Amino acid sequence: AETPVAKTPPMGWNSWNFFAEKVTDADVRAAADAMVTSGMRDAGYVYVNIDDGWQGERDAKGVIHPNARFPDMKALADYVHSKGLKLGIYSSPGPKTCAGFAGSLGHEKQDAQTYADWGVDYLKYDLCSYGDVMKEKAPNDPEAQMRLMEGAYRTMREALNTVHRPIVYSLCQYGMDAVWEWASDASVGGNLWRTTGDISPDWDRIYTLASQQAGLAKYSRPGHWNDPDMLEVGNGHLTAAENRSHFSWWAMLAAPLLAGNDLAHMTPAVRDILTRREVIAIDQDALGKQATRAYADGEVEVWTRPLQGGALAVAVFNVGGTRHAGTHPFHLDLSKLGLHGTQQGEDLWTGKAVTLQDHQAIALHSHDVLLVRIPSPKV
Ligand code: DGJ
Repeated sequence: AETPVAKTPPMGWNSWNFFAEKVTDADVRAAADAMVTSGMRDAGYVYVNIDDGWQGERDAKGVIHPNARFPDMKALADYVHSKGLKLGIYSSPGPKTCAGFAGSLGHEKQDAQTYADWGVDYLKYDLCSYGDVMKEKAPNDPEAQMRLMEGAYRTMREALNTVHRPIVYSLCQYGMDAVWEWASDASVGGNLWRTTGDISPDWDRIYTLASQQAGLAKYSRPGHWNDPDMLEVGNGHLTAAENRSHFSWWAMLAAPLLAGNDLAHMTPAVRDILTRREVIAIDQDALGKQATRAYADGEVEVWTRPLQGGALAVAVFNVGGTRHAGTHPFHLDLSKLGLHGTQQGEDLWTGKAVTLQDHQAIALHSHDVLLVRIPSPKV
């Protein structure tokens, strides 16, 4: 049976976007420590997730062991748990993971049991080399290949069901085969599923992934979430505006909020974005309804998200590379949001009250966002 996890989109951290396959036990402990000292835990972050790169060899009985960078996985789980946090791990349905480490093919039950014995609370299951297995088993038959892929995700679900530990199940096969249509079937029991290829810390990629979520809102609900990939807030050369917009957009999308930066060395500005409670509350809203794109006008996009109690979140993004909308203010068309008359709300990044009128002029710099919560929208 499915476990009652992920009632709201999972929040936490994942090692991949910053540490990639070189991640160590010390990096993971430092992330757990920083999650507490930065205030992230108190803001709702829970999962400390190890991505690709922890695996060593299987022993004569087929039991997987971590590599030398992870001397004692059970001790690491205990440490993470002692901080009031949960531990996540990573594998692949194929013989190898994307970074070439051991995958779970043929060892699914054994691996699920090993994870449970260690005290793991979350599994990301990444297709990787299973793509080759599919092609070998069903050459030139893409349809049959997709059925094999679905089967591989069912096999791990069945294995997880045998271990009697609530484990969040994260599907990672890059949005192939309209995964949102089958990932939450009881037989797969996916709590989240990647809808796209990999994110990278640049605005064009972030905007592309966000755009790809248009049309997917109906597949997402408590326990089951679209996953436009982990956060890049604080990585690469993203500007303050880009970090804010990225975080706002993921919150509007009811996306998992899995920080992907080096938590132990982040700037106060990045910490302030990741811990902005008013924005996190949008992501974690109990209604669990993902935002839809209300309309796009030139370089500006307006997305809305219904919230519990009849409130509404409105996000206006200047997605353009020029300062166009900053110099020639954009005029909000409230009727396109289903709203009429003056709307009272709160700017969730400044905390200030805002009044939105029809044809309100909004000046936004390139890649910046206005995120407003309207408690009692007038329709
Ligand atoms: C591909 C996934 O999409 C990434 O998120 C990451 O898990 C890497 N594989 C790890 O190899």
